[in-house]
Amino acid sequence: MRVLGIESSCDDTGAAIYDSDKGLLCHKLASQISLHQPYGGVVPELAARDHIRSLLPLVNALLQDESNHGQQPDAVAYTQGPGLAGALLVGASVGASLAYGWGVPVIGVHHMEGHLLAPLLEPNAPKPPFVALLVSGGHSMLVEVQAIGEYHILGASLDDAAGEAFDKTAKLLSLPYPGGPSISQAAINGDPIRFQFPRPMTDRPGLDMSFSGLKTFALTTAQAHAVEGKLDTQTTADIAYAFQDAVTDTLLIKCKRALQQTGHKTLIIAGGVGANQQLRQKAKILCEEELGGQVYYPRPAFCTDNGAMIAYAGWCRLHAQTDALSNESRGFNIKPRWSLEELAPLNITN
Ligand code: KG4
Ligand code: ZN
Repeated sequence: MRVLGIESSCDDTGAAIYDSDKGLLCHKLASQISLHQPYGGVVPELAARDHIRSLLPLVNALLQDESNHGQQPDAVAYTQGPGLAGALLVGASVGASLAYGWGVPVIGVHHMEGHLLAPLLEPNAPKPPFVALLVSGGHSMLVEVQAIGEYHILGASLDDAAGEAFDKTAKLLSLPYPGGPSISQAAINGDPIRFQFPRPMTDRPGLDMSFSGLKTFALTTAQAHAVEGKLDTQTTADIAYAFQDAVTDTLLIKCKRALQQTGHKTLIIAGGVGANQQLRQKAKILCEEELGGQVYYPRPAFCTDNGAMIAYAGWCRLHAQTDALSNESRGFNIKPRWSLEELAPLNITN
């Protein structure tokens, strides 16, 4: 079965074709970074309008990609939620219309299930059970995955998502949007010992997280060191280093706890913040050297939003035939707010 996947939940228009026999055939992305950069964050109305401009040409290019041999997909999967309502509506309406025109099934996919399954697109894919750390611009959570489709949220951020904290901190340091890549870039030249930031909510039991305090800590540190309202490049780098170090340490302290609490040996990290090199290096040391387990993540391009993860998650659900073709998923019923725990379990374990 060949599934066309469409992602349009936020500021990336993504499309991909997944073939259940051959794997991922092709994927394409239209990034909106330059569109939102002047505003220092995503402007929902602009995002939706740009998805309208980008999506059909992207799908057309995919269908004409040589890996697809001009074939019509056997099904369409689109991101149904969570995400920005206007942006979701574009992918949902285009996906449902294409499927209707082609006379093939259509399925609405949970964006975070897409992120969670993205490591399974890589060679040497992990097998459940495992713990998943999902860290994106909209969500930060630890999920126990007993089987694909069986998700139990162990803990989540009580305020800003980790990616959101990166974006807001970058903005206050006058670093460009998106904040994750620009903070890690600045941190390369940072002094590792000049500033020490707290590791929020690690001094008490539990797996919930909080990142808005770190953003405030960065703000007060920046204010204390600004000269005539401006930070010098070295101080910006030092704050970026301390912030990144604190976020990655905090996430991994919670991951360690989640692995010990559940008894699982495997951790997967997915979502945009999963592209962070420092997080990946520390996770490898924690999981492989300290805990004797393993950590998996998608290639960096599939940590951030993409169509491949939606095509793959759509295929998993179509294959298991749980909610495929229900009236609800055939229509334009987007779900801007939608918990992973509401998903129906699947009967596959690959
Ligand atoms: O998963 P994603 O593409 O979109 C959402 O579903 O939200 O995640 C985007 C988030 C942004 O907040 C961005 O700053 C962050 O992921 N991000 C990173 C890195 N690359 C992207 N954060 C830290 N380090 C990175 N290298
Ligand atoms: Zn995402």
